Amino acid sequence: MQQQRRALVMLMVLVLHVISTTTTQVCCCLLEEKRALLDFKASINETRYAHLLLPSWTNINGSENGVDEEASSSDCCNWEGVKCSNTTGRIVELQLRNLRHNIYKEAFYENRDWYLNMSTFLSLTHLQALDLGYNNFQSGVEDCGQLASLENLESLNLDYNYFNISIIPCITAIPALKTLSLAGNYFLTGLFSVEDCGQLASLENLESLNLDYNGFNISIIPCVTSIPALKTLSLAGNNLEGVFPVEDCGQLASLENLESLNLDYNGFNISIIPCVTSIPALKTLSLAGNNLEGVFPVEDCGQLASLENLESLNLDDNYFNISIIPCITAIPALKTLSLAENNLEGVFPVEEFNHLTQLKNLNLSYTGLQGPLSFKELKLEKLEVLNLEGTQMKELLSIEVMTSLKALSLSGIGINDSSILEEKSMSDFSLDKKKWNSQQKVEQSSIQNT
Ligand SMILES: *[C@@H]1O[C@H](CO)[C@@H](O)[C@H](O)[C@H]1NC(C)=O
Ligand SMILES: *[C@@H]1O[C@H](CO)[C@@H](O)[C@H](O)[C@H]1NC(C)=O
Ligand SMILES: *[C@@H]1O[C@H](CO)[C@@H](O)[C@H](O)[C@H]1NC(C)=O
Ligand SMILES: *[C@@H]1O[C@H](CO)[C@@H](O)[C@H](O)[C@H]1NC(C)=O
Ligand SMILES: *[C@@H]1O[C@H](CO)[C@@H](O)[C@H](O)[C@H]1NC(C)=O
Ligand SMILES: *[C@@H]1O[C@H](CO)[C@@H](O)[C@H](O)[C@H]1NC(C)=O
Ligand SMILES: *[C@@H]1O[C@H](CO)[C@@H](O)[C@H](O)[C@H]1NC(C)=O
Ligand SMILES: *[C@@H]1O[C@H](CO)[C@@H](O)[C@H](O)[C@H]1NC(C)=O
Ligand SMILES: *[C@@H]1O[C@H](CO)[C@@H](O)[C@H](O)[C@H]1NC(C)=O
Ligand SMILES: *[C@@H]1O[C@H](CO)[C@@H](O)[C@H](O)[C@H]1NC(C)=O
Repeated sequence: MQQQRRALVMLMVLVLHVISTTTTQVCCCLLEEKRALLDFKASINETRYAHLLLPSWTNINGSENGVDEEASSSDCCNWEGVKCSNTTGRIVELQLRNLRHNIYKEAFYENRDWYLNMSTFLSLTHLQALDLGYNNFQSGVEDCGQLASLENLESLNLDYNYFNISIIPCITAIPALKTLSLAGNYFLTGLFSVEDCGQLASLENLESLNLDYNGFNISIIPCVTSIPALKTLSLAGNNLEGVFPVEDCGQLASLENLESLNLDYNGFNISIIPCVTSIPALKTLSLAGNNLEGVFPVEDCGQLASLENLESLNLDDNYFNISIIPCITAIPALKTLSLAENNLEGVFPVEEFNHLTQLKNLNLSYTGLQGPLSFKELKLEKLEVLNLEGTQMKELLSIEVMTSLKALSLSGIGINDSSILEEKSMSDFSLDKKKWNSQQKVEQSSIQNT
């Protein structure tokens, strides 16, 4: 199924490529769409630094500089941040992130009061992706209901603006939305009212939602769990602290399609585990920087193993000790595991790690794990990336048997680097020593089996 789909995508890419190279490109954006862009530029109401904003968005209709240049600069498809369809000539993507990147800092703050007039985009009915992130736009968005005319808009990024909760009805009016990012809009803080929750549920196609760094508390959970098609949810850096009430745990389990969940930096304790293990399709879980500590209770260990589809687990920067390892190595499909910055003092539990037969990427940096470690014993045949920075390995033996390895990070592992390379494990490899010394990293490009 997956392969068929991939083959189909490849074919489509090929066909598109052939079309785009054999047919003549549709020239020039529609005048109506060009006007919309110019309206948007005018609406951001910058006067003093206007010449520094979107400088290529000009209305010049003929210049002294010759026909070609005139044609190309007045075609808004060539303006910065604008992408038109090759086939229809209509605007399909607007990248308007951090518009003031080239205004010097003082001016940036001096001009904080920017208002977004969403109505200026209404005629861009072919628009599929709009990125307005990092602009510090204030709340106060007009004519929200009309946004329903943006019937092809699938991706909207409003990260790091100052929108408050009044933006929600605007967003929920957009019918085809699949990906929404609202990270760092501090004024969203607090509770969605029940009605707003309901509105979120009306985003029937929404597959990806990012609400990182918004100061939400646990009351946000019933709101997000009402979104039926959600596959990716990120709630990092909020104040979700504490245990989910039992009902909310159940609600998380109702996210049948959820494949990726990020709950980093929320002050959770170990009681979060039964809640996340109830999510049936989970592939990627990130719980870095919480207050996760101790061993999972036996039942929870079992629950972790029940995450049959989990491929990626990030538990960086918690307070686990080495007793956590058997709980994690029971997760059958794990490909990527990161346990950096936990207190895993103790001897590298080789046998335990050998259970993770699918493992490709292992990060154990700054964990205090101790060597010596013999790669003959570590039978991870698919391992490609191993990070042992800041561990206490002392000795690494038989690196040459790790033929799958593409990157190995070893800085600060408490051994005289050149001695392990020359006398111990690296004898069968020709090594670019310069690279090793400067980066303290061995990469496949610099290791060749001789
Ligand atoms: C635009 O800027 C002018 C001058 O700074 C100000 O008088 C006007 O109210 C602003 N308009 C909006 C919609 O913010
Ligand atoms: C550009 O020039 C054309 C005719 O050459 C005219 O029809 C059009 O209105 C002009 N556009 C603008 C935005 O001035
Ligand atoms: C248009 O075609 C060019 C190559 O001719 C390609 O690089 C570009 O991605 C295409 N754009 C779209 C929107 O398909
Ligand atoms: C917002 O933009 C629309 C369309 O360009 C325009 O009709 C409307 O007057 C603008 N609103 C404000 C407050 O400038
Ligand atoms: C949101 O911001 C707008 C404009 O700044 C303001 O009028 C409105 O009262 C705010 N709403 C809430 C719920 O804070
Ligand atoms: C969450 O925040 C809302 C509003 O900010 C508040 O009314 C509510 O009591 C908070 N809930 C919890 C569990 O802290
Ligand atoms: C986890 O936190 C909750 C409330 O925040 C508390 O009731 C519970 O005892 C804590 N559990 C552990 C194992 O610390
Ligand atoms: C790990 O932590 C648990 C509880 O926090 C404790 O019972 C156990 O003795 C610790 N194990 C080690 C090896 O420190
Ligand atoms: C892995 O380790 C490095 C430090 O060695 C760290 O910067 C990185 O964020 C870690 N975690 C993940 C998930 O990659
Ligand atoms: C590492 O070994 C080399 C030669 O074997 C020696 O010259 C060097 O001083 C050693 N470095 C450290 C930090 O021990």
